[in-house]
Amino acid sequence: MTLAELKQIFTSKLEQCYDKDEIEQLFLIYIEDKLNLTYNPSFIIENNDDIEKDISQLQENKPIQHITGKAFFYDNFFKVNEFTLIPRPETEELIELIRTNHLENDSLSIIDLGTGTGCIPITLKKLFHNADVSAIDISKEALIVAKTNAENIINNEISFYEKDLLKDINLNKKFDIIISNPPYIRELEKQEMHKNVLDFEPHLALFVDNNDPLIFYKRIIEFAKKHLKNQGFIYCEINQYLPYETKELFEEYYSNVKLIKDISGNYRMISAN
Ligand SMILES: C[S@@+](CC[C@H](N)C(=O)[O-])C[C@H]1O[C@@H](n2cnc3c(N)ncnc32)[C@H](O)[C@@H]1O
Repeated sequence: MTLAELKQIFTSKLEQCYDKDEIEQLFLIYIEDKLNLTYNPSFIIENNDDIEKDISQLQENKPIQHITGKAFFYDNFFKVNEFTLIPRPETEELIELIRTNHLENDSLSIIDLGTGTGCIPITLKKLFHNADVSAIDISKEALIVAKTNAENIINNEISFYEKDLLKDINLNKKFDIIISNPPYIRELEKQEMHKNVLDFEPHLALFVDNNDPLIFYKRIIEFAKKHLKNQGFIYCEINQYLPYETKELFEEYYSNVKLIKDISGNYRMISAN
């Protein structure tokens, strides 16, 4: 079968579930990341069971990154699986914010709270070569993935801790930067979410109780009381529907709190110091 024929098959099998542009994108990611090919319509590939199985999983809304086993973030591929959030482009903007704000300082100590694939600490370590970088997550399984990514991408230079942010943590260490993309989606927001997120991504990574949607930000502030240096900064991704509530919370403890918009114009990040 040629790649042009495979594209035809993708289109006919997936047109019930995805629009034309999405199918084109899925197809390109599939041939590049799963088959390690670039698109040449006349290139001949073996038809194999994997392809059929993969297309039927796409029909069931399985994320393409779970089929290829990897996701591109900032400037690297990261291994992903059912225990880790697929890194999002919004989080790349959080990295960019730190990169531009701290350009002049290479020897920072940084900790990422709720690290998932480890995309944040690994990318920061690549940008700040001399930084001392740590990360925590409650999920053993996510930490296995994060450690594999650290080994593959930067030869394992991150200190990982299995910790519950909702409990008291004491690492006996202070940091220049605390960064987090914590769970922040309220259960009530589920109805506007795609099936491929709801059915396949870990709910532990995504959801918080409707009645206490800022719980993780409260715990990040508690963590910062013990672990942030006097001149240190906190950077978090936030729920775009709760920017002012989140800002008010941080303003109870910090004098310089800024909401920052993402590329789509939504308040998606906060910095505090
Ligand atoms: C929104 S995901 C972010 C993952 C990754 N940092 C990223 O940006 O792609 C939140 C992460 O927090 C972790 N998490 C959830 N509850 C936690 C808790 N109580 N303590 C520590 N980590 C937790 C999840 O396992 C998940 O990896």
